[in-house]
Amino acid sequence: MTEKELEELRSRALEELSGARDLKVLEELRVRYLGKRGLLTSILKTLKDLPPELRRTIGRRANEIKAELEGLVRQRREALLRAAEDEAPGVDLTLPGRPYELGRLHPITQVLQEICAIFLRLGFSVARGPEVETDYYNFEALNIPPDHPAREMQDTFYFPEGFLLRTHTSPIQIRTMLSRKPPLRIIAPGKVYRCDSDVRHTPMFHQVEGLLVDREVSFADLKGLLTYFAREIFGADTRVRFRPSYFPFTEPSAEMDIECVICKGGGCRLCGETGWLEILGAGMVHPHVFRAVGYDTEKWRGFAFGLGVERIAMLKFGIDDIRLFYENHLRFLEQF
Ligand code: FA5
Repeated sequence: MTEKELEELRSRALEELSGARDLKVLEELRVRYLGKRGLLTSILKTLKDLPPELRRTIGRRANEIKAELEGLVRQRREALLRAAEDEAPGVDLTLPGRPYELGRLHPITQVLQEICAIFLRLGFSVARGPEVETDYYNFEALNIPPDHPAREMQDTFYFPEGFLLRTHTSPIQIRTMLSRKPPLRIIAPGKVYRCDSDVRHTPMFHQVEGLLVDREVSFADLKGLLTYFAREIFGADTRVRFRPSYFPFTEPSAEMDIECVICKGGGCRLCGETGWLEILGAGMVHPHVFRAVGYDTEKWRGFAFGLGVERIAMLKFGIDDIRLFYENHLRFLEQF
């Protein structure tokens, strides 16, 4: 190999590579000159047979030519690819892309999941029940006989033939106790329905029922659990209060209020000027309920509670009208 032959090889390669009309031809040329058994590669392999003086000059030049040719191959490949894209029919590469709107969970779903996570960490498991219930599970087994005035506390949507939309998640207490032996520790999240509508009430809302049955259970355990829950969900310095109340299925009964976040206890539209917002009802399971499900009242004690999920969401996010959650205005929902 002489220097002259090397320069001839270079000019031929440059000319052919520059003229390559498509990617296939370009690749063939690359293999012919620069491939493992390509012309230039073979020269580099035989350098060792040359006398030392020639080896240095030819070697240096051959390496320069190799780098030059590799650069040209790269350039040509990019140019050919660009040309292929520009020619693709019906594709306007200058058009802006289609934006994808990011979806998110409804604020009530977010809060529901957060509430459940707190109780799951404490060893509760999730139970479920149907939204269309019978009078027996929704009222009778819960110690609310047909003429009981407590039925007035919950305005019920009735279907024909004794069916109704459950007014609370408490029927799941009955269903769970009928199908399982004590001890048990469950929560039951779900939709409930009442003929009710104002800034604190919607006809459909969510509750999370809690039920714990064991041998040694006291009202102090219930208070401790619910106070712990309130501090987990609203923060460690949250003020809560328990008020005596009445539910036919618990005795004694209480309701728990959280200090109103909007007015900080001063009184506003959300809390009805009281400074407090009721978020749950609770109490010790009534012996009549244990009898209805066949649990031995001498052996077992329990407590139950029913949380209003929308009320908790209102306090968490500072929303002063519960109906906003269900009007489906995107400008409202996108904030969560
Ligand atoms: C009950 O529904 C009982 N089942 C709770 C219970 C369970 C007591 C277990 C004892 C043992 P109440 O009707 O107070 O109770 O409703 C419970 C919570 O649901 C209320 O504290 C409130 O936060 C919420 N709530 C009630 N009505 C509505 C409504 N129309 N819209 C939104 N939230 C409501």
